[in-house]
Amino acid sequence: MISDSLPWQALADHRSDMAGVHLRDLFRVDPERAERYTRNLGRIHVDFSKHRITDETLELLFRLAEEAEVPAWRDQMFAGKRINLTEGRSVLHVALRRPTDEPLLVDGVDVMTEVATVLAKMRRFTDAVRAGEWRGFGGEQIRHVVNIGIGGSDLGPQMVTTALDWLRPPHIDVHFVSNVDSADIATTLAQVNPASTLFVVASKTFTTQETMANAAAARSWLVGHHGDDAAVARHFVAVSTNGQAVAEFGIDQANMFEFWDWVGGRYSVWSAIGLSVALAIGMDHFEDFLAGAHAMDEHFRTAPLPENMPVVLAMLGIWYNNFWGAETHAIIPYDHYLRRFAAYFQQGDMESNGKRITREGETVEYETGPVIWGEPGTNGQHAFFQLMHQGTRLIPSDFLLAARPRHPIGEQHSMLVANFLAQTEALAEGRTPEEAWALIETEGDGQGASMAAHRSYPGNQPTTSIIVDTFDPFTVGQLIAMYEHKIFVQGVVWDINSFDQWGVELGKQLANRLLPVVTSESGEAVHPSTSGLLTAFRELRG
Ligand code: F6P
Repeated sequence: MISDSLPWQALADHRSDMAGVHLRDLFRVDPERAERYTRNLGRIHVDFSKHRITDETLELLFRLAEEAEVPAWRDQMFAGKRINLTEGRSVLHVALRRPTDEPLLVDGVDVMTEVATVLAKMRRFTDAVRAGEWRGFGGEQIRHVVNIGIGGSDLGPQMVTTALDWLRPPHIDVHFVSNVDSADIATTLAQVNPASTLFVVASKTFTTQETMANAAAARSWLVGHHGDDAAVARHFVAVSTNGQAVAEFGIDQANMFEFWDWVGGRYSVWSAIGLSVALAIGMDHFEDFLAGAHAMDEHFRTAPLPENMPVVLAMLGIWYNNFWGAETHAIIPYDHYLRRFAAYFQQGDMESNGKRITREGETVEYETGPVIWGEPGTNGQHAFFQLMHQGTRLIPSDFLLAARPRHPIGEQHSMLVANFLAQTEALAEGRTPEEAWALIETEGDGQGASMAAHRSYPGNQPTTSIIVDTFDPFTVGQLIAMYEHKIFVQGVVWDINSFDQWGVELGKQLANRLLPVVTSESGEAVHPSTSGLLTAFRELRG
């Protein structure tokens, strides 16, 4: 196991040496670290100086990455090898954002030709819808797009559409329906008009219970309004790998946008799953988004490990996860448009690295993927930051910021920036009881000495600060790809397959088994608690 390797053991020893070291001291003895632990990737500036690291830490972490053969696994991914071992698939979301005139052969087939064909089809379609040439059944222009999908077929398009919403023209709005709770589809349908709504049914498998139920509800709502099945052809398109299921649903092949089994659901926003993004922002911007991701792919593919940003971020995460016992990692964008960013990477990271079996089929003897969470700043400051500042847990976090405001109003952007800077500094430096006492004395408000303890902060909370000039399609693409590759590197070091998701199957199977018990009012659940809950449900429903 990787935990038996020499670099891992060396890191464990080094961790003991670092036990009493505070970020304050690290900056005091080495102020240059702010510059040394900073990288610029085009328009993205990353400062990882506020971490419990020294040059030695980094050296050991990169040795661990070498030991785990990160460069070799990375090269296999880019070459289209079947590194998704449990599903026997290649992992090629990187191909979706590659220049289409550079061939990439997988099993003798140039996948780039297929990618180019679908991109061209997306362009024709989105141009026609946005220009009002593609019309509804009754001849009305499309004004509402409703993406019906869940997981990767929802979170990616939703996050990116939200992040780039300022590029959406006012005559088109975009909605996302995911939950099997009928409140989701019902409240969305209440906001749109059947004459001018386009449904994008997004599902890799086209068998997902939630998506199929919502799509069926939308279809009968639409047909009910138009009084003609033929309306479906003008108001429904599908994005899927499963042409047969799409046809059975009643959507014409001409209205289907294909992708392939080598695109994982949570890595699929770059494929035709991004159709709702392209409808919102236009295909030129969508291609900028792909280009940004490709720039990060090239960086990840070619930069030496110490300069390689996804590798650096991944190894910092491993440092806290495996050597300091951190259980979670927070993502905190100081940007309202990025408010879905953490939710997106909850799936991206936790469905990828929430695994306990190695690629060789053994149970790991170390922790794997952390809990990912987060909300935008400054809102988080008035909610969970208290625990980060004075609670008992170690919480490494990423802070993201755009240097330019999208909507300059008074001093609000300066306030945002000041808060961003203040929080990362406060988390790192903290405030000692002596400093707190000095403050109490200066304020002279009669507070006793015991208040010094309440008003002190341990600090030493590690943060990465990421600043871009502006979150536009290119930088958003770069950032997402940076996190994707970070997740990849961590999965390689932990020796797990980041590209399957067997953990979601058991619950799905049980739900299928319980559905007839719920609907027919007959039959019983086997599990005593489930059975009791069913009885309570039946009684409460009345
Ligand atoms: O429940 C897990 C999952 O398979 C995700 O990996 C995926 O993104 C989501 O369901 C949706 O799947 P599909 O796109 O096939 O509907």
